[in-house]
Parts: sequence; structure tokens; C-alpha cells
Amino acid sequence: MADHAPQENPLADAADADLARLIEDAAQICADAAAERCGACPAHRLAACREQLWACGHRFRELLLRHVMREQALLAGLPCTEAAWKHRIRHRDHHQEFVCGYNRLVMDLGRGHPGGHLQGLESLVAAWTREHVLVFDAELAALLAGK
Ligand SMILES: [Fe+2]
Repeated sequence: MADHAPQENPLADAADADLARLIEDAAQICADAAAERCGACPAHRLAACREQLWACGHRFRELLLRHVMREQALLAGLPCTEAAWKHRIRHRDHHQEFVCGYNRLVMDLGRGHPGGHLQGLESLVAAWTREHVLVFDAELAALLAGK
């Protein structure tokens, strides 16, 4: 029975709750978040959407940076094995990919319709969870646990 129990991730902490709140808040920005519909919104609503997007984007940036800073120390403390060394390189590179993806998104936030940027932010946050937290961070947790 214990073999089939879900593995606890010792790296899970308040950042998970922050990410969940960010996803919820981003979903509240516009119930009709399709870029092609932004043209029908009045200027004051578009401005409000952009402001909320900036706020959510800033929170995601803070979350990413806290994650990277915390895990740099954990990655450096992994044992000197080939598996740990390979993980350290791949994990660090994946952090950099996401920071670059975030930077690309932010560069465009002031331009165009906010609906498209909202979809971009939601996609980036979803990819962060699916492609990083559930893969790289879970692997790091297993390495730290000596599995
Ligand atoms: Fe990570």
C-alpha cells in the first residue's frame, strides 16, 4: 500500500499556495479573456486589465526568483554523484528558460490587447507547474531524500 501512496514533496511550501492564488487571481482578470474580444472593451477596462496583468506578472516574477534562489542552495548541496550532477545542470537550465520566458512575456505586456497577454501568462504559469514543479522539483526532492 505504501508503494502506491503519493510521494510528498519536501520542497512544497508557501510558494505552492502563492502559485494557486496567482492562478485564481489571473483567472479573475477577465471572464472573456480572448485577445480578439479586447477590441470591444472600453479603454478604462483595458487599462484595468493591463494593471491587473502587471500585478500578476510581478507576483509570478517574485515567485520564480524566490524559487530559483532557494533551490540554488539545494542544488549546490546535492551529493557528488553523476545523477546529481546531471540533474543540477538540467534543473538550473530549466530555471533560466522560465526566467527568459517570463522576460519575453513582460516585454510585450504594454503592447496590444491584454487578453492575449493574459493567455500567455496563464500558459506560462501552467507550464511552470506541469513542466518544472512536477518534474524537476519532484526529481530534486527525490535526490535530496536519497531515492
Ligand atoms: Fe526548480
